[in-house]
Amino acid sequence: MNQTVLILDFGGQYAQLIARRVRESNVFSLVVPSSITVSEIKKINPIGLILSGGPHSVYDNNAPDIQKDLLKLNIPILAICYGMQLIAKKEGTEVLRAEKREYGRTLVLVDNSSPLFSDMEKAQEVLMSHGDQVKQIPKGFVRIAYSENCPIAALEDRERKIYAIQFHPEVKDTKNGKLILRRFLYEICKASGDYTMKGYINNEIAKIRERVKDGKVLLALSGGVDSSVAAVLIAKAIPNRLYCVFVDHGFMRKNEPEEIKAYFSSQPINFVGVDAVERFGEALKGVSDPEAKRKIIGKMFIEVFAEEAKKLGNIEYLAQGTIYPDVVESGTGKAALIKSHHNVGGLPEDIKFIGIVEPLRGLFKDEVRKIGRILGVEKRIVNRQPFPGPGLAIRIIGEPTKEKLSLLKEADYIFREELQKAKIRSDQYFAVLTGNQSVGVKGDSRSYEYTVALRAVKTSDFMTCEYTRIPFKVLTKVSNRITNEVSGVNRVVYDITSKPPATIEWE
Ligand code: XMP
Repeated sequence: MNQTVLILDFGGQYAQLIARRVRESNVFSLVVPSSITVSEIKKINPIGLILSGGPHSVYDNNAPDIQKDLLKLNIPILAICYGMQLIAKKEGTEVLRAEKREYGRTLVLVDNSSPLFSDMEKAQEVLMSHGDQVKQIPKGFVRIAYSENCPIAALEDRERKIYAIQFHPEVKDTKNGKLILRRFLYEICKASGDYTMKGYINNEIAKIRERVKDGKVLLALSGGVDSSVAAVLIAKAIPNRLYCVFVDHGFMRKNEPEEIKAYFSSQPINFVGVDAVERFGEALKGVSDPEAKRKIIGKMFIEVFAEEAKKLGNIEYLAQGTIYPDVVESGTGKAALIKSHHNVGGLPEDIKFIGIVEPLRGLFKDEVRKIGRILGVEKRIVNRQPFPGPGLAIRIIGEPTKEKLSLLKEADYIFREELQKAKIRSDQYFAVLTGNQSVGVKGDSRSYEYTVALRAVKTSDFMTCEYTRIPFKVLTKVSNRITNEVSGVNRVVYDITSKPPATIEWE
């Protein structure tokens, strides 16, 4: 069992980010609801607690709270932003109601004789993002940082090992953020740094072997990062007893099904490739509503997968590529048994498994990628950008006909190829075949052809995004190539909308 730090989530957008940063410092961390009780904490026996920020004011009616005894546990605490204000209030001092929010990078002056800031420069750039702030220093605490707008920017009670900071160490904008967290973990919690990806892999391999014994495991392989890494990890534990069903619905990107088949056929697994292209195509004939497309594809996926599972017969376990954010976001810590977009959970009653195997359930996406790299999974798969389950069917506006699909595959391939060549960093990028046709000229004649929209976004959580600033030179090349090489397309546009108000996908 690894040493553990608990992140108490006060509803801010930063709790998961804090957990990732802690893990990057080789200390295992878990996000727990802020309502966690002292006895639940004792059971987990953490080496430290981090109280996250949150959108509330401590004076709000339903402001999230902590049990007062939490401060008497003798476990080191780092309270960030809202967490800091809450501790100040608990310790009987006032929190100043904000007249306006402070958001942005700012300079703080720290007391580098505090273990939290040891061996750091006194003046540091940090990210402030808060409304309220602590007004008085609570009894037993001393001030260890201040800024122009925030006279009490950090506090410590060295004896009780309680630290509080108004700014956010988990974001890159706080220059020494990573170091501050390391100081908390290693100087204050005395962590040993026992959490590594190699350790995680060995642990999971042992767990799978013990659980599955000589049984067989079935996995729906989509070719995405999670299911692919899960497949390779399970295969390490029980080679040749893993059955991977890959359903080709025809809406994957150019060359993708072939690449998936080639790679996984070389692995010590039983690869079952199902060509369901015609079946899905038939089912989507005349369907243009995006939600209807999603429903039909989801339902048909289960149908095809269930047929294959029946053919294989007698498979004891179902494996899934569920990852930690799926578990945290479900809010219960228990749910997310079934990852909804794969919908394997909707399998018919007569297909029964003894249990579910989810070897990535404890990991963030970047950790899954690291594990993939350690296990030698192909780069192309490990670095794959997110791709929706219904695939290109929801990137063709209107009915996804064969003709439109082949145009989109080519245009999308060109866009991705050029972005990669130009080394443009973007978290998700693809082409959309709009339903729009417009007039153009090709050679001497008039054309009336489709418009392709290009979409490329920067995001960390896919809940919000900014469009990627692609240089005009690259866009011009993409546009020229698409209109020259893809017959049926005479116009290319670039989508410069953020989310909100738009979404990443067009459907
Ligand atoms: P939106 O379009 O909602 O997309 O901004 C956010 C992220 O979710 C992906 N997405 C889907 N993934 N099935 C999936 O598996 C879907 O139906 C679906 N719709 C959107 C999208 O690609 C982006 O990463």
